[in-house]
Order: sequence, then structure tokens, then C-alpha cells
Amino acid sequence: MSEKIKFVQRETLKEKPDPSELGFGKYFTDYMLSFDYDIDQGWHDLKIVPYGPIEISPAAQGIHYGQSVFEGLKAYKHNGEVDLFRPSENFKRINKSLARLDMPQVDEEVVLDGLKQLVDVERDWVPEGEGQSLYIRPYVFATEGILGVRPSYSYKLLIILSPSGSYYGGASLNPTKIYVEDQYVRAVRGGVGYAKVAGNYAASLLAQSNASAQGYDQVLWLDGVEQKYVEEVGSMNIFFVENGKLVTPELNGSILPGITRKTVIELAQNLGYEVEERKVSIDELIEAHNKGELTEVFGTGTAAVISPVGQLKYGETEIVINNNETGEITQNLYDHYTGIQSGKLDDPQGWRVVVPRY
Ligand code: COI
Repeated sequence: MSEKIKFVQRETLKEKPDPSELGFGKYFTDYMLSFDYDIDQGWHDLKIVPYGPIEISPAAQGIHYGQSVFEGLKAYKHNGEVDLFRPSENFKRINKSLARLDMPQVDEEVVLDGLKQLVDVERDWVPEGEGQSLYIRPYVFATEGILGVRPSYSYKLLIILSPSGSYYGGASLNPTKIYVEDQYVRAVRGGVGYAKVAGNYAASLLAQSNASAQGYDQVLWLDGVEQKYVEEVGSMNIFFVENGKLVTPELNGSILPGITRKTVIELAQNLGYEVEERKVSIDELIEAHNKGELTEVFGTGTAAVISPVGQLKYGETEIVINNNETGEITQNLYDHYTGIQSGKLDDPQGWRVVVPRY
């Protein structure tokens, strides 16, 4: 096992929230992981510190020019042990996002080890209720206080932890209503769509607010060139069941390569479903629906898990999927995916990574 990192203890621990009130991302644990970078020392001073406000230059580049990337993963507790779900995938992806914004790479093993030490300290914060987990948010932002537009010479990586329930509130398998966005676009070819950068989420908020005002839960983005092909939903990748086959938009540079997306594809194939990754046009979906061939739609994401879609609105057309009920394939994938995560089912792929006791 690796060496223990520096630990700055807080004076008093917080009171833990009522597990029935968790919601998503509202409560934070006692500690966070902190790692600093500057151009002379590289990454240094990895430590666990009390969760709390940080001091930052008003001129910090991350605030002005948006050098800021993040990740999301989860920890689960079962039989007294705490597991992380496919954590290496997140640190591989954060390096791709960092590279795209010309930010320095992190050592994936070092940061993962720091995260395990943090979660070990916070194991009492991992909730055990149905659909609950400890949501983990690693992020890196530019801290140098200088207004010239160039890559920052200093950065901070933090990992904060939030005991959470379902992302959409209520039961996780409540079908959502989705607005197909035909005015704004999320990403364009050659842009930052595949990277998990803060600005992608900022750019999505206006369309999301417009959709919410009309009673929809999320926006489904179309491609940025022809506004014809389906890309992804606000906080999820998207899957369709057409003629019994799973179809999902192929990774084309403007879609986020979701880790839940990848897991669901692998799981579906292991369960014997055919999966196609290809271009999917919105016209194809409406036609398939009219012919009775579009039987299920669901989104996938770390926070959202597997979330059925009950309605899609595109222009004047509104379609209801599977009577606004969770479909059989969606339910089967959900049961297997959450069963493996929560430790109720075997994990032949070794996706669960046990947090050691340091
Ligand atoms: C996640 O699923 O972890 C996300 O990052 C989506 C969202 C909460 C921003």
C-alpha cells in the first residue's frame, strides 16, 4: 500500500444529514483532497484538508477564461466495505479534458490513491439507502492571477464528496420529459464537446431553463452542423431501443464519452443485446416511433444512473415512449448496473475497486 498523505484535521466534525433528505450534491463531507500545481514545482502538496472555503485571486484565470474541468464518480458501501466504481476511467478522462484546455496532466495513480485515502477517512459518510451513494467530484481549475489570455502557470485540483440520492429527485426510474433543442447547440466539430469542461455546462443552461419553463426535465442536443443528428442530453448520454436493438450516437468528438455509457454498452452486450453506435437522426427516431419500432429511450450518466425517457418534444411533434413507462430492457439494464454497483450482484469485470483501510 502507498504512503499516507498529509492530513490536516478539523476541530469538530459536522453533523450528518438525514438520509431521507439527501437530494443530489447538497451536502458535503468533513474533508476534501487538495493538490497544487505551479510551473516550477509541477504537482505538489497532495493533502487531505477540512472541507471549506478556499482563497483565490480575483484575477484567477479559471474564473475569467474558463480553464476548468471536472469529473463525477461514486462510492458505495456494502458488507461494511466501501467501493469506488471504475475510478481509473475518470482519471483517464480528466487527463483528456486537461489536455484539451492546455492544462497540465495529473498522475492518475497518485490522484486515485489520494482519493482512496480521502474516502477511507470519510467512510462513515457513504450512505447505504436504496439508490444512494457518495458522489465524488474531482475538478481542476486555473489559479494564476493574470489577465493575459494564455494558459495559467498555476492550478488547483480538489476532490469534494457529497452523500447523494437520486439526481432527478423521487424514484430513480421515473420517466423524464425531454425537449429536443433546435435553436442552440452544445458543441461543434473541433470544439470541446468530448471534454468534461465547465464551460460546456454553462453553455447549456439557457436552453435548459427554457425547456424547464415549458415543463421539460432536460434538453436533448442535436449536432452543431446540421442540427439533425442526436448527440446527448444535459447530464446524460442517450440510448434508443429500435426493433429490440440498442442504438446510441457514436462518439464523434462532440459527445461526452460517458463512463456509464461505456459500462452500459459492455453490460448490454454481455446480456446478449445487440448494440449499435452510429449516427442517429431525430427524423429516424420520429419515423421509428410512428411505425411502432421505437420502444424505449433512456439516458445514462454517473449522476443520473440509467434514466428512462417518457416523452420527447421536437418542434410541434411530441412523442410518448412506451406509454410513459419504464421499458423492459431499461429496467433489466438498470437492475444489473445498480446491482453490480451496490454489491448485490457479482462483478466479473472487476469494476468495483475496494477502498483499503490505510
Ligand atoms: C455526472 O453524471 O457525474 C455529471 O457530471 C453530470 C452532471 C451532474 C453535471
